Amino acid sequence: MMKGLFITFEGIDGCGKSTQCELLKDYLKANGKDFIFVREPGGTVIGERIREILLDKKNTQMTARTELLLFEAARAQITEEVIRPALEEGKTVICDRFFDSSSAYQGMARGMGMDFVAGLNMAATGGLEPDVTFFFDISVEEALARRGKRGEASDRIELAGMRFQEDVRTGYLELAKNSNGRIVTVDATLGIEEIFDAVMKTLEGKI
Ligand code: TYD
Repeated sequence: MMKGLFITFEGIDGCGKSTQCELLKDYLKANGKDFIFVREPGGTVIGERIREILLDKKNTQMTARTELLLFEAARAQITEEVIRPALEEGKTVICDRFFDSSSAYQGMARGMGMDFVAGLNMAATGGLEPDVTFFFDISVEEALARRGKRGEASDRIELAGMRFQEDVRTGYLELAKNSNGRIVTVDATLGIEEIFDAVMKTLEGKI
């Protein structure tokens, strides 16, 4: 039986979820809560090495199947090494991306199939699911404009293009619809403070 609360943040590239993660971390710190923050892919020594392979622009030969299995491998590691133990100790766990990313990016956008990916997600996590998932929803155009402003260099996945990001968004919308309330869709075109208010409203009484 897990004692801690497991919260995940999701959305297309440039949706602003990292900013919201920072705000939630600040809030938890200021209120003396026991929490950990991790990101996917990564968050463990093995996971960070897998992350390098996944995001390296030189790896143009990587097949969709390999990509999916590498994400799942990194996930298996962080789930067992970091997330489960923290939850068992009663800590709140915030994860910047978790298995919904694989469903949306690899399942929908790369065409591997959402059901197929759901099975692998299950295998990687041993059935662990987030208690609450925030999906920060924004159009591809707006997300791109934001990223352009920040002047960030694109990684291998981000370079896949606008059509790809559209498909990722479609994947997330479908997941949210079928999540039985686990996935909370937040309008990511609102101001930073308004978005954070929406997040906190959902978490009220839970953290
Ligand atoms: P990252 O730099 O962490 O992006 P972000 O700040 O947007 O989270 O890179 C992660 C990239 O990997 C991002 O483009 C999403 C993608 N990704 C997948 O395609 N599948 C997955 O299962 C995960 C976790 C991430």
